[in-house]
Amino acid sequence: GMSQCNLGEPWRVQMNADIAAAAKAQPELQVVFKDAQNKTEDQQAQVREFISQGVDLIIISPKEAVPLTKPVEEAMAAKIPVIVLDRKIEGENYTCFIGGDNVLIGREAGKHLAKLLGNKGKIVELKGLETSTPAGERHKGFMEGIEGSSIEIVFSADCQWLEPNAQREMNSALSRFPEIDAVYAHNDPAAHGAYMAAKQDGKGREKTIKFIGIDALPHEGVKYVKEGILAATFQYPTGGKEAIDVALKVLKGEKVEKNIILGTRVFTKANAASGGEEIKASAAPQQKGKS
Ligand code: FRU
Repeated sequence: GMSQCNLGEPWRVQMNADIAAAAKAQPELQVVFKDAQNKTEDQQAQVREFISQGVDLIIISPKEAVPLTKPVEEAMAAKIPVIVLDRKIEGENYTCFIGGDNVLIGREAGKHLAKLLGNKGKIVELKGLETSTPAGERHKGFMEGIEGSSIEIVFSADCQWLEPNAQREMNSALSRFPEIDAVYAHNDPAAHGAYMAAKQDGKGREKTIKFIGIDALPHEGVKYVKEGILAATFQYPTGGKEAIDVALKVLKGEKVEKNIILGTRVFTKANAASGGEEIKASAAPQQKGKS
């Protein structure tokens, strides 16, 4: 059973497609997809339905961490292995977590923007849903990335990962702040929404503000970069294929790693046509005695 928190964003449609494609090559696997349509209660109910149906394994990409923790625990208690994909739950009571390194991505976005702006400027941060783990991690990493620069976040808002919310929040930012140098959006839909707000404002500010996003789907973020809408986007792999690889191992009784962290790539106008550039996980900042 695969419980997807929503299919509103192209990125999640891609995740399901990646799962379906990988599963198709495995005749002994049948994946039942459920879409929670961005409703936490529906997703809780879906996991419980999978438990009562007695599926062999659950894959979940949870909308929010805290409310989905208990249903996952119930599945584990019922001896149904659970693979958590992309967004996390609380604690460690799951079989395997697979996802991108959101702190690393945020940090790289921060460093990229600092370089682009010559270490100074006023920026708007359009965050993802704060009760989902990638939003906090993308913010934390970003703050590390701009540390030591004179970059100032003048406006920030929880846009819940949704383009229309980002567009609305950007409208307020534009009317309140005559100087905005860049927008750091936690996903490409939000970056695009911000760009559209600036464009529709009619003062040409979309040409001077630099927009940065995350996800880098070929037909979304990477396309925006090629079109000159975004200055950069960072790949956030869906983990769909990896989830099926791990599911097969688990079902065969093989041991799997508890946490599988996927890499990322940066796409800019200069490298988008040639597939972006890999970011090494060793790009972590120097430890400064903090644990
Ligand atoms: C899709 C999405 C992606 C984002 C991910 C974070 O729902 O918002 O755009 O990268 O979820 O979990």
